[in-house]
Amino acid sequence: MKAKRVRSKCTVTDRTVDPDVLTYTVGEDPVLDLELAKWDCMGTAAHVTMLSELKGLRRPIVTKVEAAKVRRELAKVVELSEAGKFTIREDDQDVHMAVERMLTESLGDLGKKIHTGRSRNDQVAVDVRLHMKSEILAVEREVSDLAAALAQLGFAAGTVPLVGRTHLQPAMPSTVEMWATGHAEMVLDQIENLEAAYRLADLNPLGSAAGYGVPLPLVRARTTALLGFSRTLHNCFGASMARGECEASLLSALAQLMCVLSRLAEDLILFSMPEFAYFRLPRAYCTGSSIMPQKYNPDVLELVRGKTAQVIGLATAALSLLHAMPGGYNRDLQDAKLLYMKGLSTTRTTLRILAKLVAGVEVDAAACRAAFTPGVFATDVALRKVAAGTPWRDAYHEVRDHLELLGAEDCDAAVKAKRHEGTCLGIDRALYRQRIASVRKSAESRAAALEKRRRALMK
Ligand code: ARG
Repeated sequence: MKAKRVRSKCTVTDRTVDPDVLTYTVGEDPVLDLELAKWDCMGTAAHVTMLSELKGLRRPIVTKVEAAKVRRELAKVVELSEAGKFTIREDDQDVHMAVERMLTESLGDLGKKIHTGRSRNDQVAVDVRLHMKSEILAVEREVSDLAAALAQLGFAAGTVPLVGRTHLQPAMPSTVEMWATGHAEMVLDQIENLEAAYRLADLNPLGSAAGYGVPLPLVRARTTALLGFSRTLHNCFGASMARGECEASLLSALAQLMCVLSRLAEDLILFSMPEFAYFRLPRAYCTGSSIMPQKYNPDVLELVRGKTAQVIGLATAALSLLHAMPGGYNRDLQDAKLLYMKGLSTTRTTLRILAKLVAGVEVDAAACRAAFTPGVFATDVALRKVAAGTPWRDAYHEVRDHLELLGAEDCDAAVKAKRHEGTCLGIDRALYRQRIASVRKSAESRAAALEKRRRALMK
């Protein structure tokens, strides 16, 4: 027998909708929005504070005393959410209405006033931006941890020679340190993209309401200051269109970061193959086979490549979502949150596991040295002829025409002869230490400032 479906009443509009419609439109919000609870409360605390300070109204929307009451209740909601006890019901639709329901349960009519002069459109936009600022700073700390693990791997190996490759073919003498710190520098440079995404996220959309403002004397600069944004998104219509843009911008930065991680993973897979054997991967970060007892497979690194494909897909999906979006709020924008949160968690878990894996990589110095073939020294031989007075192109041809004359050379001496900036002996360790420390310090101090501001608002 077919069960009769109950039509739920949506708490937001108090309208009865087909349950399938509610399920379809609410989507994953009751789960995804749990992550936003803390930031939603912070946004609401700033909004009611600003409402309580409005001048020129016949009667206050909320008094200062009432605003303080709301802020204290919001602090309790944050506590619940941090204890994992905050839930969003399907008929709430999202975190915004769940918080309003809870405030109404505890504060009665006062709870019903908090949505005055705003819309869920500017509310979710501000929540995502606060969440994003905090998450970008966490990503930056994880980026610095991975860069530190790579730099440490390089510093410890020091001048252990490594065959430098172009086209994957043996090319020139290099070192393990140059390889590892080269990857560290690639990872660190990704901070530039993350910071560009941070600057975009650091703009306040609150007070734009549904995208067209409200006939109340809102002071938008006040919530910008209370929430610690760098500035207000001035135009209300523009502010509503900016939803999704910062998600797309961060996802693009994450996709690029993942590409850097994927290339590192690929080098590690290659150089730990028995045919190369330059590196040994930590056993605890390899997995076995159900049939071949001898196997230690680099599954983690392969999945880094796989997840890179996913994050590129998510960034593409975010841009596709926006490319034909008409101006003003449209519900498709809700999916930008889903793409953003998925891309973020995938990138963060990847950064963390890679940092641990890299910390356990061992270098087989003998295998690295054994890989040097005479051809790797060809350029050095030609340059010795240059030192003796032969013009470069002639020296090149003399070596090229008699490759059979190339013999085994001392690879340690070869790498020690390379001393200019950024080559084998020219790796500036202090520079890495200083860059890693400054990324960490800047991310940590901004995260602490944001948290301090949030706590101050909840008092
Ligand atoms: N959950 C919604 C979202 O993420 C909140 C905004 C709903 N606004 C609306 N006009 N239906 O987009």
